[in-house]
Amino acid sequence: MSKKKGKPRQAARGARSGHGRQRQHLIDACISALHLYGPSRTTVEKVVAIADMSPGIVRFYFDSKAAMLVASLRFLSDEFEERVLTPVAGLKNTPVAALELLVDLYLDPEIASARKVSVWYSFWGEASSRQEYYDICGQKDERFAALLLDLIGRMIGESGQPQLDPDGISLGLIGVLEMLWQGFAFQTETAIDRAAAKHRCMAYLRSVFPGRFALNRAGAADAHAPARSPGALPGWSYQSARLNAVERETLFPGSWQFACHESRLPNAGDYAAIDLCVERALILRDATGALRAFRNSCPAQPHVLVAQGAGSLINEDIVCRAHGLRFALDGSALGRVERLHALQIDATGGLIFLRSGAGTNASANPWVTDAGPLAVMHLGASGEQLIAANWKLVVEQLLEISMPASDYVADAEIWSSVALAAGGTSDRLAWSGELNAATRRWSVARYQAILGADAAVAWRRIFMPPNQLLEIRPDGVTLLQILPVDAGLSRLLRHTASTMSPSARAAAAADHLAQRLSPCVRGMGTALIESIQRGIVNFGYEPTPTRATAGAALLFRAWVVDRIPALAYAKPPADWR
Ligand code: FES
Repeated sequence: MSKKKGKPRQAARGARSGHGRQRQHLIDACISALHLYGPSRTTVEKVVAIADMSPGIVRFYFDSKAAMLVASLRFLSDEFEERVLTPVAGLKNTPVAALELLVDLYLDPEIASARKVSVWYSFWGEASSRQEYYDICGQKDERFAALLLDLIGRMIGESGQPQLDPDGISLGLIGVLEMLWQGFAFQTETAIDRAAAKHRCMAYLRSVFPGRFALNRAGAADAHAPARSPGALPGWSYQSARLNAVERETLFPGSWQFACHESRLPNAGDYAAIDLCVERALILRDATGALRAFRNSCPAQPHVLVAQGAGSLINEDIVCRAHGLRFALDGSALGRVERLHALQIDATGGLIFLRSGAGTNASANPWVTDAGPLAVMHLGASGEQLIAANWKLVVEQLLEISMPASDYVADAEIWSSVALAAGGTSDRLAWSGELNAATRRWSVARYQAILGADAAVAWRRIFMPPNQLLEIRPDGVTLLQILPVDAGLSRLLRHTASTMSPSARAAAAADHLAQRLSPCVRGMGTALIESIQRGIVNFGYEPTPTRATAGAALLFRAWVVDRIPALAYAKPPADWR
């Protein structure tokens, strides 16, 4: 708010000159008179009495009383345009921030004082001055409605709720704001509770877009505990089915998820059906050899079209077993208008990544550079494991053991020169460490002996929120994905590749040693994670920050809270319980 108040007021720019100041003084007095008497009973005499000026001054600046009234309304309209519409429109690419600012500014005492609000309504309410209102304010009202519609449309897109009607929701918010203004018009400034008014507007927006707007941090009426440090997420966030649905809609659709290697689909017609928990994917190579990806689901009813696994559909259609609807390899339905839902696919370097919605980085797949080495290596084993814990808990534990901050000494016997850094947008965390040349650990010395000079190359771990971690070592790479099955169950997928030929004896030895040295490779303490989950869910114990959470896990929590502000609170929103 302070930033806004410091902005120059172009609407009052004329007031800087002597004449301008006098004219503005008259307009201010006219607004006060309109507030007290309404347009029809406002007279030049009443205005000059309030302004403490002579009647002749009015005639110097305005041809008539009507001209003075029109100038006053135009001043308010220009002020609204400049101080509300312009700054909010400047934030339209971040609709959450834009809508919060809009509510803030719309209810600001400089815009929505009882004195000014009553002038708007007096012009609008008096039949004799209604045409003047439309002439002066009509376009401004239309721009306001269009801006709000645009912001609500963006919110619907971001929150993945296409069933919502942007027109109805934006009209609802205009109605809430109008009702609050009408209340202001009949109150004294001291009686107006602006915090409560803002809370009601935000309650409306939060009920339409759960989890997207921060709860009222100052509002005792919320009955929510104050904001928590992202040093620990609240216990409810590891067991809420509603939150799990919000996370799937908010965090995953825009992220590129690794699906498989291109070598699984060498020929036209080859396919791979992959369950990524947040998306059922059908990847196939069409008749022209191009890779395509679709949602592996019949458009008529959401059952799996092609059973999980891989195979060939050459000279075949994709056939729905339920009612026989047939789809060509380009996703079109034969003889029908339905199409298979297309997923975005990126196959640079032989690695196939998918995503189902637009992310913050419109097209670039941030994995391509980092995962490049995986493409030129010998593909190794992949595996999966079910863990009876919330996916965030698994990610946090993985980050705590694999991306500790530089002052975390637990693995100092193995690592030296450890560095942890967040990317420019915090959408990427990177860790690097060199094997400690001075260690007495047998596994380190043996690994160095096998890899030779390559062993001096730093190991790197790259975490791409929300759920994927890549480890790049001198002997190969490991990619881990933690996928949410439901609020209390996760799936851990592991993909590996090696720089060494699988037939070389040294490859097996290096792989064995990497498993001893790398927490990413040897696997996490599943029993510990599941025990923490039970402690939270069965016993109601709350996680608390510890020293070990100072690294990547802290950055991960901040990333999640930034996208789902409700996670900053000890209790879930009322409509999530
Ligand atoms: S469920 Fe697929 S065509 Fe009816």
